[in-house]
Amino acid sequence: MESYTALIGTDLDLACEALVQGKLIGLPTETVYGLAANALDEAAVIKIFQAKQRPAFDPLIVHVSDIRQIPKYTAGLPEGLLPLAEQFMPGPLTLILPKKNIIPDLVSSGGPTVGIRIPAHPMALKLLQKLPFPLAAPSANPFGYISPTQASHVAKQLSHKVAYILDGGPCSIGVESTVVDATTHPIRILRKGGLNLELIAEKLGYWPQIQEYSSSNPKAPGMLESHYAPKKPFYLMPKQELINQSFEVSEAVLLFGEWDKLQAENIWQLSAQGDYAEAASKLFSYLRQLDEDESVRAIYAHNLPDIDLGRAINDRLRRAAAKV
Ligand code: TXA
Ligand code: MG
Repeated sequence: MESYTALIGTDLDLACEALVQGKLIGLPTETVYGLAANALDEAAVIKIFQAKQRPAFDPLIVHVSDIRQIPKYTAGLPEGLLPLAEQFMPGPLTLILPKKNIIPDLVSSGGPTVGIRIPAHPMALKLLQKLPFPLAAPSANPFGYISPTQASHVAKQLSHKVAYILDGGPCSIGVESTVVDATTHPIRILRKGGLNLELIAEKLGYWPQIQEYSSSNPKAPGMLESHYAPKKPFYLMPKQELINQSFEVSEAVLLFGEWDKLQAENIWQLSAQGDYAEAASKLFSYLRQLDEDESVRAIYAHNLPDIDLGRAINDRLRRAAAKV
């Protein structure tokens, strides 16, 4: 496999050139940074699995620039989902649809479906519009580790595996897209993400079913229990339990909302105002900073209320705390 010390920059032509040559790039999106390759080129896609050390049974999301591209790669949108797609694509929504043969089996891990997403990041959209092919892109982190929300995160871990890193600034949303199985009616949520279930329900007129994750769930093979995990000990508990403990300086505490009773010195506030979007945008970069900080021995966090983006955040916290 090629080895690089990747350039970081904003040059779309360089990014295009690398992709046309079958190389990998770091791709900014509004959710997290992606590790992107030509989705129609198996030889390029295989490099994604190698670079991430990702198991081949975990399928990739295909990124396109426009809703009108969807029928090229899939059986098309079910009629009832058109309002949802029109409202939230581009956006943090991935729709799982029956795939067409043009999508290599490697992308879908041999399955009959493919996830399609239109990123709402101007740089990603411009790039996709310039390219004659869609982009397969998982999050640009080694398999199981914290997802990247800045170009520097990608450089730190995958610099030698990518030909170029497009720097689109910090990701505005900060957690991955909401993955929706659109092959069933009613639709089912496979991964809670950057698009709220409340907003989906409002558009659909019904509350979607939620598929609880498990590694044995064949519909969502990549949704392994331990994921997004820092290398350090990470503990998740109810807020009240956190209050009842006292923490040393070497024990960092992730907090959401104001809280004067907490007996801790090393507090990392996700959002003092209790704003879920702010908390989501900070979560992964805080986890990374804490994981890298040598003075921190362990990380503690509490569950958020299970509403709004709190659902997606709780999911990430739960899996960061899970042991393999
Ligand atoms: O926000 C995002 O979705 C980011 C950015 C880069 O677009 N991408 C991302 O990709 O998070 P990844 O590969 O880290 O996570 C995709 C998840 C995996 O858990 C995978 O199992 C699931 O989506 N997935 C992909 N294709 C699928 C399919 N055909 N059926 C079921 N699950 C699928
Ligand atoms: Mg991922």
